[in-house]
Amino acid sequence: MPGLRCKRDLQRGQFIDTYRGEIITSDEANRRGQDLTEDENNFFFDYDKFRDTGAFETHRDYVCDGRYMGAPTRFINHSCDPNCAIYTVSYNHNDRNIYELAFFAREDISRGTELTFDYYDQDEGLPVSDARADEIEADKGYRPTRCLCGSEDCRRYLFT
Ligand SMILES: C[S@@+](CC[C@H](N)C(=O)[O-])C[C@H]1O[C@@H](n2cnc3c(N)ncnc32)[C@H](O)[C@@H]1O
Repeated sequence: MPGLRCKRDLQRGQFIDTYRGEIITSDEANRRGQDLTEDENNFFFDYDKFRDTGAFETHRDYVCDGRYMGAPTRFINHSCDPNCAIYTVSYNHNDRNIYELAFFAREDISRGTELTFDYYDQDEGLPVSDARADEIEADKGYRPTRCLCGSEDCRRYLFT
C-alpha cells in the first residue's frame, strides 16, 4: 500500500504540511464516492470537526477532495498508532465550516519513515469485528476497508 515517507528527520511538534484539495459539498462527495470502485483509494477529508460542538447555528457539510488537486499529504495512510497529528487552523475568517487541516509530527521521526495519521477522531472508531463488518456491508452496501496498519491496538476496519 503506497504511502508518504519523509525525506528528512522531523522533530516532535514540527509542522509538516496541510491537506489540500477541492472543497465540495457532501452531496457531491457522495456522488463521487459512488463512482469509486472497491480497489480505488478515496481522498475525501470531511470538514466535520465542529459539527456536533454547538459552535454555530448552521452547519454546512463540506468535504475536501484531494483526488484531482491535492498536496503530497493526500498520500498519508491511516494508522491506529500514528506518528502525525492533525489540527484545524483558521485565519482571516470566522467560518467554522471550512478550515485548514495541518499535520504535525507527534514524535521525532527519522528520515525515510512512513508518515501516518489517525483517520478517526479520538472519540470515535471503536474496534470492529468481522461480523460487524458483514452487518455494515449488508446495511450500507459497501464493505469497510480492512485496516493494514499493523499496530497492536488496531481497530481492524476503516470507513465503517
Ligand atoms: C488518502 S489515501 C492514502 C494514500 C493511498 N494509500 C494511495 O496509495 O494513494 C486513502 C486510501 O488509502 C488506503 N489506506 C490508507 N490507510 C490504510 C490502512 N491503514 N489500511 C488499509 N488501507 C489504507 C485506503 O484505500 C484509503 O481509501
